[in-house]
Amino acid sequence: MSELDADIEQTLISTEQIREKIGELAAQIDADYADREPMLVGVLKGAAMFMSDLARALERPSTMEFMAVSSYGSGTQSSGVVRILKDLDRDIADQDVLIVEDIIDSGLTLSWLLKNLRSRHPRSIRIVTLLRKPDALKVDISVDYVGFDIPNEFVVGYGLDYAERYRDLPYIGRLRPAVYGG
Ligand code: XMP
Ligand code: MG
Repeated sequence: MSELDADIEQTLISTEQIREKIGELAAQIDADYADREPMLVGVLKGAAMFMSDLARALERPSTMEFMAVSSYGSGTQSSGVVRILKDLDRDIADQDVLIVEDIIDSGLTLSWLLKNLRSRHPRSIRIVTLLRKPDALKVDISVDYVGFDIPNEFVVGYGLDYAERYRDLPYIGRLRPAVYGG
């Protein structure tokens, strides 16, 4: 139990469901990367929890890199104009890059990121996301591994924040409207 539980209106995905799903995703990734070592590229901060649990669930060795980006634009809508806040520390040329995302909403951030990383000539590049909001997608991107498709509503927990809080919740839920003044 966490003090934050009281702010959650409904649990959408439980800790146990997350754990099980990560096991399934890891098994698929292990099979697909049978003779390779994926370089996990996590997008901060939201993907931090997913990345660390995924890396531990994989049987194959992997390496970890992090990048932080921010979308320019007003409010909560992503604009597709992205700024790099923290770039990768290492060259990804000839690496088998696996982008690790917490959530794909409009897809604009990821679409930009893919283009940016592809220009650095990795050997391969794939995407794994824990969550996706199919009804919010604005661009056509093929995502290789998806944990859960969820409705087009704002969620927090397991890395996802509202005003930097709730990332530490071990499950994913919907906030009570009163919390954000609704
Ligand atoms: P786009 O629209 O470019 O944006 O796919 C993806 C990024 O937007 C954030 N995001 C959320 N964060 N709860 C959150 O805490 C949500 O429901 C949500 N939807 C989008 C997130 O940073 C993601 O990487
Ligand atoms: Mg993110």
